[in-house]
Amino acid sequence: MNEQIVLLDFGSQYTQVIARRVREASVYSTILRYDTPAAEIAKLNPKGIILSGGPSSVYAKDAPLPDKAIFGLGVPVLGICYGVQVLAHFLGGKVEKGQHREYGKAALSVRDGSCELFKKLPKSLQVWNSHGDKLTKMPTGFRTVATTDNSEYAAIEDRKRRLFGIQFHPEVVHTPRGKDILANFIHGICGCGKSWTMRSYLDEAVDAIRKQVGKEKVILGLSGGVDSSVAAALLHRAIGDQLTCIFVNNGLLRAREAEVVQEVFGRNFKIKLQYEDATELFLRKLKGVTDPEKKRKIIGKAFIDVFQAATKKAGKAKFLAQGTLYPDVIESVPIGGNPAAMIKSHHNVGGLPKDMKFALVEPLKCLFKDEVRQLGLELGLPKEIVLRQPFPGPGLAVRCLGDITEDKLRILRRADAIVVEEMKAADLYYKTWQTFAVLLPVRSVGVQGDERTYDWTIAIRAVESQDGMTADWVRVPYDLLEKISLRITNEVRGLNRVVLDLTSKPPGTIEWE
Ligand code: XMP
Repeated sequence: MNEQIVLLDFGSQYTQVIARRVREASVYSTILRYDTPAAEIAKLNPKGIILSGGPSSVYAKDAPLPDKAIFGLGVPVLGICYGVQVLAHFLGGKVEKGQHREYGKAALSVRDGSCELFKKLPKSLQVWNSHGDKLTKMPTGFRTVATTDNSEYAAIEDRKRRLFGIQFHPEVVHTPRGKDILANFIHGICGCGKSWTMRSYLDEAVDAIRKQVGKEKVILGLSGGVDSSVAAALLHRAIGDQLTCIFVNNGLLRAREAEVVQEVFGRNFKIKLQYEDATELFLRKLKGVTDPEKKRKIIGKAFIDVFQAATKKAGKAKFLAQGTLYPDVIESVPIGGNPAAMIKSHHNVGGLPKDMKFALVEPLKCLFKDEVRQLGLELGLPKEIVLRQPFPGPGLAVRCLGDITEDKLRILRRADAIVVEEMKAADLYYKTWQTFAVLLPVRSVGVQGDERTYDWTIAIRAVESQDGMTADWVRVPYDLLEKISLRITNEVRGLNRVVLDLTSKPPGTIEWE
């Protein structure tokens, strides 16, 4: 078993970021609810415990508090932001409502350079704060090691008991040396080595899959997206032909998508691939439908029907594999609302009915997205798949507004391929979150050659984002936009106008629907 750091979640929007930073330091991290009993934590044999931030005040009536016994486990503890208040609350300190919220950048002065947290770091550091309550009396046995203008106790330690607290957030990019502070805690104070790498995970995962599956058969729904693709390659490495992948073409895929999946997985990886071309069925059911919610429902249901029939064809299998990721399985703490957890649900359209009787194999369920990408590269998947931009389950249906016809899909596919090709050629494609074309159900007059035309409109959408929750439009260079627009109007018949979407999210969404 890997060495690990346990992270107790008090509802901070940054909890997952802290967990990722720990893993970036090549140490495994596990997120647990704030009230997980100390005895249960001890069973995991963690090398250290981090208390996350959170939106509450320790003195609020229903403030989330941990099991006090965690301080007696003999394991180093680092409290971050609200985590410091927790230390103060249990260990004899005092927290008061601050006069003003301390929010944003601050200059941290390290007063005691012998504190392990700040080892090999400058005495003056930029840090990022976000708290209202403030530590006004240190917990017993602690001393201050760093200050800001607004706080005498920006970083505190009890060296003997190896308990530490920092008011600022080391996990965010606005604390430029935050990674080093966390690394000092993880490696220096907790004594962790660097045992968590995707190479070592690969071997462990292969063994675990073989153990779980035995000689049974496994089915996997392959969408061509990053998660299901990496899951397919990993399972194939572990169990070869015991795996059958089902790939459903819903007629709403982008140009060459079905071909690429068949090429990569069928021909290169030699994975048993069952290709279901359900284009005709999906387009028939969608005929004349313009309401976005109705489109989504129709697509969701048709997918289940096709997939269910396909699994029967594939023969008896005990297991169904899914590319579930760690953020999907972390039990969210609903204190003050965890936006990531709440927004996610409306996008989950691909769920399968309960009566499909399979046991689940979820070989990616302890990985974050960036780790899945690394694992994919480790498994030899091409960059085109591993670094792929997110693509919605309902496919081009959310980018072809109004009713969906084969002709509109032809126009959209071709225009979209040009956008992608040109963004790739300009080395911008992999640097943006999403870059695509949208077909607007608006016809306008144009002139092409000597002819007047009355044709559709294409919108170009390029956005930057960290997680899809918020987004900003990309300032694509004018010359590149000109090239894209010229190519689209010259090469694609059936449209005569190209426009650029300048909306961020909020107030817009990324997809138009
Ligand atoms: P919106 O349009 O809501 O999209 O700003 C946020 C992110 O989610 C993706 N998206 C979906 N993904 N099924 C998915 O798997 C869906 O139905 C769906 N709708 C939107 C979108 O591409 C963006 O990355």
